[in-house]
Amino acid sequence: MPDHQGPCGSGRSGTVHGENKLTRRRSVAGLVADASGGPLRRTMGLSQLTLLSVGATLGTGIFVVLGEAVPEAGPAVVVSFVLAGITALFSALSYAELAGMIPGAGSSYSYAYATLGELVAWVCGWCLILEYGVSVAAVAVGWGQYVNELLQLTIGWTLPDSLAAPPGDGGVLNVPAAVIVILAMVVLLRGARESAVANAVMVTVKVVVLVMFCAVAFTAFHAGNFRPLFPLGTAGMTVGAASLFFSYIGFDAASTAGEEAKNPQRDLPRAIILSLALVTALYCAVALAAVGAMPWQRFAGTEATLSQVLVRSVGGGNLWPVLLSIGAVIATTSVVLTVQYGQIRILFAMSRDGLMPPLFSRVHPRTGVPRAGTVIVTAFVTVLAALIPLGALADATSIGTLFAFALVNLAVLILRRRSPEAPRGFRVPFAPVTPLLGVAACVYVMYGLGADTWIAFGAWMAAGLAVYGLYGIRHSALGRTATPEKTVQETTP
Ligand code: ALA
Repeated sequence: MPDHQGPCGSGRSGTVHGENKLTRRRSVAGLVADASGGPLRRTMGLSQLTLLSVGATLGTGIFVVLGEAVPEAGPAVVVSFVLAGITALFSALSYAELAGMIPGAGSSYSYAYATLGELVAWVCGWCLILEYGVSVAAVAVGWGQYVNELLQLTIGWTLPDSLAAPPGDGGVLNVPAAVIVILAMVVLLRGARESAVANAVMVTVKVVVLVMFCAVAFTAFHAGNFRPLFPLGTAGMTVGAASLFFSYIGFDAASTAGEEAKNPQRDLPRAIILSLALVTALYCAVALAAVGAMPWQRFAGTEATLSQVLVRSVGGGNLWPVLLSIGAVIATTSVVLTVQYGQIRILFAMSRDGLMPPLFSRVHPRTGVPRAGTVIVTAFVTVLAALIPLGALADATSIGTLFAFALVNLAVLILRRRSPEAPRGFRVPFAPVTPLLGVAACVYVMYGLGADTWIAFGAWMAAGLAVYGLYGIRHSALGRTATPEKTVQETTP
């Protein structure tokens, strides 16, 4: 039955559907009302939103994880990029529809709350902590690799392993990774506008640096490096796609800025699709250039991969690798900044709904920033970044994200049936086929992730359900103001 009848009152009146605690839902109208009356400041236009998404996407995946995917897929890594990109595209279309419809701070968590009920929304929010919080840690580790590469290239010295790698990788503590997370916190505490300006500068730098990489690497291009294209079969190509999916994560970051966008219904869908298009084109070009310049067998074990491609395959001294490494440090800085921003906004939304403690939604009156949330998220991410190796962090990020993306595709299908008349700034073309393909693509890529990742994911989910059972279910704002569905119908025009 349609549940969006235009704006409704403030607060949560008229926002609950169903009596069952686990399946109770927020109405679309209630979520929209929350978002329009929230305390965050509306300062971001289309370009800032697009830059936010690009800022959150282009980073460790292309600069570092590419080096792990090439030995898995061979030169077919270019096809892996396309496959991972198509998976991301299906979900991006669904995100675009829902972000235009429910422009809150909660991203897919809010979409699930409006469609699949509180328990699934919680599971989705818990997955988003993998997508955002854990990926910040992964990216911070990539940042550390490039800082070390830069030190090596410029002064011939690197930090000792004990201070630059986690216990699983032969070190004690990854200090650089921890440092960048804390620096990002300092910027984020200043406010969304300041963070967006810093991000815009960094995004410009990283796009320029990747274009420079392509131009330089193409001078050493050998078509023979692509023969055979599938030395490790299509199975290798799929495993590569699963690893590289990490590099696309973040295009949805604009959907966490729904309450800080000036015109969210119009601009959020555009920002999501624009950013994915830009990023996909760059990734395919960089992968072609990298494998064309350096035979795929030589990628195994490389750190700071793109820099190493230039060092080993292109003459002309250290100039290009140094420039590339500076760009990579800046690039990964912007991912840390934007993704950490997104995590804080998602917890803000969950806290406002009562599923997380109230201090995550307490906003500082002058800066408009959730201060306590920012500090707590930073502490959590710093510990992960300092202690866990990159591969494990990246795969955990991917599996959680894929699960959340699958739910977003399902949410589109459900809302098309339940709220066909609700205003949508964008509509997924060829629904229901496209969202269904989106779910299938997510499941297929998840299948490419290793058993360890699945076990870690199972443990994370079990912990999440325990937290929900002990805290969320009792403090849910819907539980406190439960209004039968009938009332929703009566209070809307
Ligand atoms: N997509 C982001 C990156 O590659 C997480 O750094």
